Amino acid sequence: MNQFLSFAEAIAREAGAILRDRFGTTFAVRHKGRIDLVTEVDVLAERHIHDRIRAQFPDHELLAEEGGLTQTVSDFRWIVDPLDGTTNYAHGYPFFSVAIALEHRQETVVGVVYDPLRDELFSAAKGQGACCNHRPIQVSAVDTLEQALLVTGFPYNVKASPQKNLDHFSAFLDVAQAIRRDGSAALDLAYVAAGRFDGFWELNLSPWDMAAGSLLVTEAGGRVTAFDGQPFSPYVAEIVASNGRIHDAMGQVLMASGQTAMRAVQRGSV
Ligand code: IPD
Ligand code: CA
Ligand code: CA
Ligand code: CA
Repeated sequence: MNQFLSFAEAIAREAGAILRDRFGTTFAVRHKGRIDLVTEVDVLAERHIHDRIRAQFPDHELLAEEGGLTQTVSDFRWIVDPLDGTTNYAHGYPFFSVAIALEHRQETVVGVVYDPLRDELFSAAKGQGACCNHRPIQVSAVDTLEQALLVTGFPYNVKASPQKNLDHFSAFLDVAQAIRRDGSAALDLAYVAAGRFDGFWELNLSPWDMAAGSLLVTEAGGRVTAFDGQPFSPYVAEIVASNGRIHDAMGQVLMASGQTAMRAVQRGSV
């Protein structure tokens, strides 16, 4: 597994250098949706990662945000977000990352999230723990929501789900110490793994937003599930990740606020 981990770390750093070099310069931006941007730098970074994977592991499958799925007959699938935090990047807000995961027979075995501006490389291999710049990291020891710093995000397709994240947000505001919205789900998860955040939840994410970061959290001693505590899958667009100690409490808040949202939808008041 370690050859894959080293390779993922190398290509995350290379793509991160592309992001860092172009950050704050002028680049083309187009719209995938009303507020869903893609810059030419997303595409450049993804092309670099794509070419490196194709050259090194020509038979492996590749699922990347901008290019979609390159299907092969293989037990291995790379899952790539070349720039997680495009809105931040396009505005010159310094919080974004490169996220690369490797699945073997549908199980995530390698996860790497790289923050090029802080030069922080978060990495994990299944069963080997998680590191930041090759030093071991672990989740926080906070054990009540009252002491917890939480983080979430909001989808581009704001109307996609009957469960509105504002309902969850407002429920957590009542019980948590504080909540952040930083704009890079992969880096949010890396920060949970590093003990900087105590918990993260989000709806409507894609596999490339979650696959790498979810392995970081579990390898750092945390828990990752669906809102109702069912096993996590990067292909199910709902995630709660935490240090483990506050996990059940987060799940209870999410289930209760989800039901409030569903009742509002049934009443037709949203
Ligand atoms: C987005 C970021 C953001 C999350 C969005 C994602 P992108 O990814 O992870 O934090 O709230 O839902 O789509 O488009 O910047 O790669
Ligand atoms: Ca993303
Ligand atoms: Ca992206
Ligand atoms: Ca995007």
